[in-house]
Amino acid sequence: MAKIKTKFICQNCGYENYKWMGKCPSCNEWNSFVEEIDEKKSKIKKDLKDIKIENIKDVKIDEEDRFKTDIGEMDRVLGGGIVKGSLILVGGDPGIGKSTLLIQIANNLSNKGLKVLYVSGEESVKQIKIRAERIKLESKELYILSETNLDIIKGIIENVSPDILIIDSIQTVYNPDISSAPGSVGQVREGTHILMNIAKRKNIATFLVGHVTKEGSIAGPRVLEHMVDTVLYFEGEAYHSYRILRAIKNRFGSTNEIGMFEMRDIGLVEVQNPSKILISERPRDTSGTIVVPSLEGTRPMLVELQSLVSPTMFGMPRRVAMGIDYNRVILMIAVLEKKVGYNMESYDVYANIVGGLKTKEPAIDLGIISSIASSYRDIPIDSKLTIVGEVGLTGEVRRVNFIEKRIKEAENLGFNTAIVPKANIKDLNKTKGINIIGVNNVLEALDIVL
Ligand code: TYD
Ligand code: MG
Repeated sequence: MAKIKTKFICQNCGYENYKWMGKCPSCNEWNSFVEEIDEKKSKIKKDLKDIKIENIKDVKIDEEDRFKTDIGEMDRVLGGGIVKGSLILVGGDPGIGKSTLLIQIANNLSNKGLKVLYVSGEESVKQIKIRAERIKLESKELYILSETNLDIIKGIIENVSPDILIIDSIQTVYNPDISSAPGSVGQVREGTHILMNIAKRKNIATFLVGHVTKEGSIAGPRVLEHMVDTVLYFEGEAYHSYRILRAIKNRFGSTNEIGMFEMRDIGLVEVQNPSKILISERPRDTSGTIVVPSLEGTRPMLVELQSLVSPTMFGMPRRVAMGIDYNRVILMIAVLEKKVGYNMESYDVYANIVGGLKTKEPAIDLGIISSIASSYRDIPIDSKLTIVGEVGLTGEVRRVNFIEKRIKEAENLGFNTAIVPKANIKDLNKTKGINIIGVNNVLEALDIVL
């Protein structure tokens, strides 16, 4: 068999060469060459007559085009289940629970009568079985294969024709035609390409597991994200048992949704009421903390905002934001300085969302302002009070979306007062158990809060 030709391409400027080079002669970038199969040499020309184009009105969509995993958190993040023939990348740090999540999904799907093929390049068949026993899985049609050679994997997929394919992980599989090592950018991209072609051709929903490398991207410079349909990240803190599943990209759903799980000794368990957990460890009678009803996708979630304001030691004041947008924190500090008259330039400000959550929504602005003000003046905020509202540059409080959902969640968790934008008041006529106060600007809000 003639050897498939490969070439090396500079990832910076696209310069091509048949040998690897340390430095690109065209753009002078170092270490930018990646091996790829030379399409010109290996492509089979297709006859134009064989290519069919379709009128959009004749394209049929079935109701049944999604598989439900029956793990509610997962289905929601995917936008209502797995789309047939789609390619889903599940990224995360090693040890976070990707394999556990996928074997649980594989188990559920196989018990619904779907044929699932789980290919592991990291564990032996026995190790997979041990994990499945640990989390007490009993599967009907779940086939496991421990293999890393893409030629063999390809052959098995053709033979088995599964409905669902899981590749754990994309960094361990390799195409023997490419000389670079498994896990290199060239191999990872080639592997994804091959699997994508099979998935689309045979309509197999495919999960690719990807370890996040040190730089924080999946296998180097985010090479896979644009190739797949959906990118999910599984995150969590190493010393916390809670895990968050987040959609970074989704061709078939929203990217705002998050799913929450807890890693227990029997595998991953869905967290049905995240708000309760997120605010459970909240300290009492201390300044700098407030709970805000934020919205993650379609789900309201109560989160605790904390701030610490302390005198600046050396010249420039420090500003640190964790889990919230740094620029918004800077803006809120400027509003406090100018509109409320606080002397912020001689204080450091640290602001944080508790529980490893991240949000960028402006609806928490008023919460950020309140927690900073509470720490600055060292006055604790009533623990049964919550606040929501976007803050503009003149200190005005602007309306937020889905106010009713947010307030309902606060009410359910026992809050008795909610400060909301005045403009939102008319959307909120039905609440009974919680006292609603509308405000026009930051000064009015702080008068009530502190
Ligand atoms: P794993 O799914 O192997 O992580 P990944 O595939 O992302 O590398 O999960 C590894 C960790 O999860 C490991 O430290 C053990 C722990 N774990 C549990 O706590 N409970 C369980 O039921 C299982 C299967 C794993
Ligand atoms: Mg794993």
